[in-house]
Amino acid sequence: MSFSVNVLAKIALELQSGIGHQDRFQRLITTLRQVLGCDASALLRYEARQFIPLAIDGLAQDVLGRRFTLEGHPRLEAIARAGDVVRFPADSDLPDPYDGLIPGQEDLHVHACVGLPLFAGQTLIGALTLDGMDPHQFDAFSDESLRLIAALAAGALDNALLIEKLERQNLLPGPSTTFEPVTRTQMIGLSPGMVQLKKEIEIVAASDLNVLIDGETGTGKELVAKAIHEGSPRAANPLVYLNCAALPESVAESELFGHVKGAFTGAISHRSGKFEAADNGTLLLDEIGELSLALQAKLLRVLQYGDIQRVGDDRSIRVDVRVLAATNRDLREEVIAGRFRADLFHRLSVFPLHVPPLRERGDDVILLAGYYCEQCRLRLGLSRVVLNAAARARLLSYAWPGNVRELEHAIYRAVVLAHAAAAGDDVVLEPQHFNLEAAPAPHVEPVLPTAPLQPLRDATEAFQRRQIAAALDQHQHNWAASARALGMDVANLHRLAKRLGMKA
Ligand SMILES: Nc1ncnc2c1ncn2[C@@H]1O[C@H](COP(=O)(O)OP(=O)(O)OP(=O)(O)O)[C@@H](O)[C@H]1O
Ligand SMILES: [Mg+2]
Repeated sequence: MSFSVNVLAKIALELQSGIGHQDRFQRLITTLRQVLGCDASALLRYEARQFIPLAIDGLAQDVLGRRFTLEGHPRLEAIARAGDVVRFPADSDLPDPYDGLIPGQEDLHVHACVGLPLFAGQTLIGALTLDGMDPHQFDAFSDESLRLIAALAAGALDNALLIEKLERQNLLPGPSTTFEPVTRTQMIGLSPGMVQLKKEIEIVAASDLNVLIDGETGTGKELVAKAIHEGSPRAANPLVYLNCAALPESVAESELFGHVKGAFTGAISHRSGKFEAADNGTLLLDEIGELSLALQAKLLRVLQYGDIQRVGDDRSIRVDVRVLAATNRDLREEVIAGRFRADLFHRLSVFPLHVPPLRERGDDVILLAGYYCEQCRLRLGLSRVVLNAAARARLLSYAWPGNVRELEHAIYRAVVLAHAAAAGDDVVLEPQHFNLEAAPAPHVEPVLPTAPLQPLRDATEAFQRRQIAAALDQHQHNWAASARALGMDVANLHRLAKRLGMKA
């Protein structure tokens, strides 16, 4: 059987309509599912040995966050290698990437599955996948007619990729970011807040402006910094990282600017600092809110004049460094409180980027969960890792105070738990595998009068260890946040933890 002109016209028209690529692809997939009567269909983009879902129909939403590597998915590898329509035998042994991901279908063992590779000239740019529960679902359609559909879809995808490439090179207005190159930092998320953030990253990356990235702990500030660097003309040069919170005051200046031999006790040779290391590249100053006022003044000088002085040296060295700063503090408040220089704040915040907390990203929680499920599956060599409906609901209703980092850990932990309890390597995550209660308030154990007495020093240290562990636990091992919660300076906290043997 081949398609009527009407059907093909309908598909072609769907590919012309729609506001953005996303919308257009979604219509294509939905139309295909209707026309072919499949239970699930997906359009995937291909790049760097990965298939990235662009639009899905009849599949669990978390598929949109999954990244399917060829290595991990023999069926997709077969499609990538084929060069033409692939019809998998209904009882094929090759695992299906969507196994457990078609709502209402527990098991995809016997089903109809067709893969259509999409080409631009000789280059593989994507694939369409069609799945049907009836093993003979697609028998009626000739290869010839499936090739026609593939050709229409390939044309549309190629066009969309081209348009975006032109936009990226500023040849066309209005950057959109449906197709971030996978060789660059992957930022999962389709919520309006994340789409907006990706647009802003795209715009600011091309400029040479300093950027202040703010957001709660674990939201992805470091990832944003990487994306800015990778999208900038400095991408081929280093991105140097410095955590200002982990800098004891005594060595901070030398870390930033370097020192000359004999500058201070222990300065036995010349040493360059992070600014020199980042010359022609980018310097990420993480937790910039922790920088002392004295160093803030020195940093301001570099931003103003573009030169640095090594500790113990009067001469200036010119550096060409783009500074990105990240913080989970409200720097405006820090300025008001006199802890952060207003002039430095203004220099850094020419282009502020705010990374939204996970609880404001709606269904991105599910996409990210899918992303981490697939990563876990590959890492642990499991056949499949899926979330059941109750688990998805649980993830969506939780507030995620530790944001993406907390979600990442929660998925890994749940997979390990579920795997330990499961018979094979087929892992279904259920609500009981997640421990998502609100973190308990720090609990101070009362010293019972009957407790055996121990030297006061030991008792004090034990108490300090407990408090520090509780603070770290509550703040996802973020030292700066823990120090704040404990009302102490972060450098002192590092020192204390070291003395208490809690840290190498
Ligand atoms: N949109 C995203 N897609 C995929 N992974 C993400 C995303 N956002 C964050 N992550 C991951 O979450 C983890 C935390 O991100 P990151 O370290 O960038 O957060 P942060 O804001 O710098 O946290 P902190 O304030 O604690 O330093 C990392 O493993 C990062 O790769
Ligand atoms: Mg960080």
